[in-house]
Amino acid sequence: MILNDIAQLRQQLDTPLFAQLSQTADELGLPCYVVGGYVRDLLIGRATNDIDVVVVGSGIEMARHFAASLGRGAHLSVFKNFGTAQVKYREAEVEFVGARRESYNRNSRKPIVEDGTLQDDQNRRDFTINAMAICLNKDHFGDLLDPFGGLDDLKDGIIRTPLDPDITFSDDPLRMMRCVRFATQLRFLIEEETFEALGRNADRLQIVSGERIIVELNKIIESPQPSRGFVELHRSGLLEKILPELSALDIVETCHGRKHKNNFYHTLEVLDNVAERGGELWLRWAALLHDVGKTKSKRWDPAIGWTFHNHNFIGEKMVPGIFKRLKLPLDDRLKYVKKLVGLHMRPIAIADDEVTDSAVRRLLFDAGDDIDDLMLLCEADITSKNEVRKQNFLQNFKMVREKLVMIEEKDRIRNFQPPVDGTEIMKLFNIQPCRAIGEIKTALKDAILDGQVPNEHDAALAFVIEKGHTLGLNPVTD
Ligand code: CTP
Repeated sequence: MILNDIAQLRQQLDTPLFAQLSQTADELGLPCYVVGGYVRDLLIGRATNDIDVVVVGSGIEMARHFAASLGRGAHLSVFKNFGTAQVKYREAEVEFVGARRESYNRNSRKPIVEDGTLQDDQNRRDFTINAMAICLNKDHFGDLLDPFGGLDDLKDGIIRTPLDPDITFSDDPLRMMRCVRFATQLRFLIEEETFEALGRNADRLQIVSGERIIVELNKIIESPQPSRGFVELHRSGLLEKILPELSALDIVETCHGRKHKNNFYHTLEVLDNVAERGGELWLRWAALLHDVGKTKSKRWDPAIGWTFHNHNFIGEKMVPGIFKRLKLPLDDRLKYVKKLVGLHMRPIAIADDEVTDSAVRRLLFDAGDDIDDLMLLCEADITSKNEVRKQNFLQNFKMVREKLVMIEEKDRIRNFQPPVDGTEIMKLFNIQPCRAIGEIKTALKDAILDGQVPNEHDAALAFVIEKGHTLGLNPVTD
């Protein structure tokens, strides 16, 4: 939805907060505008509480007076070094800044900033849809100042820079990521010249910190249809700079007339499937990386054709390096993504032939609480265009899921703790820590997972005694 006329726009601004902003600006005699993302989101009916205000004059002075006029409940923060201030009031966060002109140095994202006019301020913004301003002074309250046709671009669904895109992107290369991010979030198209400039300036991404890149990349991944963003990143050459492991999957080789599938586009389909099923950020990362091991594992086997043996394990090993390089968290979230990449072939392998209890128990044991996410990933991984094949797989997965529920109810394997632990084994045989204990524990775990021993204490103890015998250990009797 785009607001059609100025009357509608004024209506949206008819709130006590904007009335107070207007009054304060007039009292100080300062031209004052709401700008940027707030205006964009207001026009597309995506109301937010983050309001950016530009003042032709001192943003800090305006913020001080505005906070004072609101009285108790308003919280003012001043950032003198940046010449900005923030007022928090109820849900709203209003940022104040003086209109500025910026010039950039080629080797840094940090601009040289000078006072400027509203037009200077609009010129330095990233996209036409982010460069609109609405006047807050009483005489022109609600007037839209849109020098670059941002409203039309918003209506037409277009991302375009206000100035020459080479300048806009070279000034601040993070904007290239923002460009693709907005296009993905809003389902807009990137205007041709703007798109071409992405490719020309891709190298400049080097001067942007990994943390900032990842914020944008994660927003792309969290969009409703993330593949749109990845296609643009790839086509423009940006992906090669960020995630070359992924762009390397865009290849189809032929041997003896047989092709393998394009694993880049397959990966994007899986990612979209996961997004469509409501998968969260880290599950989406697992989808994005689930096949990265395929480049290294690809082989032509005359008997079978193209194979990607162990690509899941190779991929799992690649994940930490990728996380480290991209400044992604190296904590449980890394572990989770690694685990899902490593395990993503298991459900399909056990669904291939007869689904045995023992295979399902082992899967439950290895996946633990992430079993549902793993199953979702595996179902999303079925991108076959052959409807019969696809239905077959889905049917098999349904069976695996049913078995998972049954076995979990029966054996409670999900958070498996062996019913006889190391301490009890040491006491039982009156032994100190040694290799035999590990051996007995592994044998017990395997026996339970294979269904030879029930997951309960007495049966497990009997097994441990028997296993001890084979190792020359006898229980002490007292
Ligand atoms: N901006 C810019 N270049 C950047 C970052 C921001 O020109 N690299 C300008 C844009 O006009 C933008 C405004 O600063 O609209 C506010 O930026 P920000 O709060 O980061 O983004 P929003 O546009 O508000 O969007 P979102 O909240 O979705 O990040």
